[in-house]
Amino acid sequence: MIPRFNYSFSVREVWGAMSALFAKEPSGAPVYTRLFPAATVYEISSARAGIAYALAALQLPENARVGVQPYTCSSVMVAIQKAGFRLVFIDIDETLTLDTNDLADKLTGLDALIVTHTFGISAKVARIKELVEDLPVIEDCAHAFGSRYDGVQVGNFFDMAVFSFGNGKFPALGSGGLLVVNNRQYVDAVNERMHQLKPNSLFSELAFVGRQLIKSLLYSRVGYSLIYKFFSRRLADRGKQIDTHSGLENEIYRTVKGRLRTDVAEIQAAAIRQRRNALAIIDKHNATFNFIYNQDPDSTCFALVCLHEQRDDLFNHLIQGGIGAGKHFQHASLWASSFGYQRGDRPHFDQLVEQVITIPCHDALTQTDLSIIDEALARYAKRGSFREQLTAFS
Ligand SMILES: Cc1ncc(COP(=O)(O)O)c(C=O)c1O
Repeated sequence: MIPRFNYSFSVREVWGAMSALFAKEPSGAPVYTRLFPAATVYEISSARAGIAYALAALQLPENARVGVQPYTCSSVMVAIQKAGFRLVFIDIDETLTLDTNDLADKLTGLDALIVTHTFGISAKVARIKELVEDLPVIEDCAHAFGSRYDGVQVGNFFDMAVFSFGNGKFPALGSGGLLVVNNRQYVDAVNERMHQLKPNSLFSELAFVGRQLIKSLLYSRVGYSLIYKFFSRRLADRGKQIDTHSGLENEIYRTVKGRLRTDVAEIQAAAIRQRRNALAIIDKHNATFNFIYNQDPDSTCFALVCLHEQRDDLFNHLIQGGIGAGKHFQHASLWASSFGYQRGDRPHFDQLVEQVITIPCHDALTQTDLSIIDEALARYAKRGSFREQLTAFS
């Protein structure tokens, strides 16, 4: 089966990680320094931790109202609530990012806003900037390392931004992220928080490397087929649970920090391959399937994202064809309902959350994998048009 994500951890990468562990301080310029020329950038343990640090730095009153789209990770919802704030859900549009009309309606009364560049598709930055004026804004770029808006890396546009290098992200380093502080007003508060973080013990660093190695085996072709055969139901059920793990107290793993320095060329090459893979499929099937992606030619493709009315049917077809498709955030309505969301509140979201399907385009795909995906989509499209003809006939 073609794994959904690329969690490979090569001998060279393990070596790079271990060297960072035993070096005094991981050396060399990290990959992102040129991406945020005007910001102060912190390496952190996760994007959710970054959102918590950023929200704290805003120094909002208790019960302040934070706008966020419901089509997001449950860990983001938890981070807002744990910070002592209330969530105000703002609808999305067919790009799976903030619906600026709904934002305009909900703006009065918001104390802060989270803007998510879902799947690396940039939100409508210019329109949001016009609307929010001086409302504090945090960009959630967990899916958007290497994604651009108007030719500029996202994460440069508002007060602060967070990135993730955790599982299922790009680059998928298993953990870690960035907090980018663009507004100098918040640097002191963030600095203070960063000084309170504890380094990870040698044992937890080694345990993390061990977990990554196991994950790389589980997400190999054979491992992934076995997981799917035996655990797919359990995994789907686990996805319903809200992710409450916060990891707020610790620094980024040194092994991840090391890889952000030693694996720069690989990360850049992987981004290019990933986009090439995505476009190879999109170009062939754009007329039949509704793919959404960042049109900027230099932007990373997080996954092949498609909106499809018979999403579950297409999903089953792809899984049967040996393709590790996903229904990303499929339980987002359920998660959001724990934070006051009621079905019908945000109509586009209700509809779109049931249409999203992601298809792997990661850099480990081979030419054969791409042909398998291509043929599976072609077969599905043919089946669909045959059905349409039958319906028209009857
Ligand atoms: C849109 C979005 N924001 C934030 C996060 C949290 O990232 P992390 O796991 O690094 O905390 C995720 C994780 O899935 C996400 O999808």
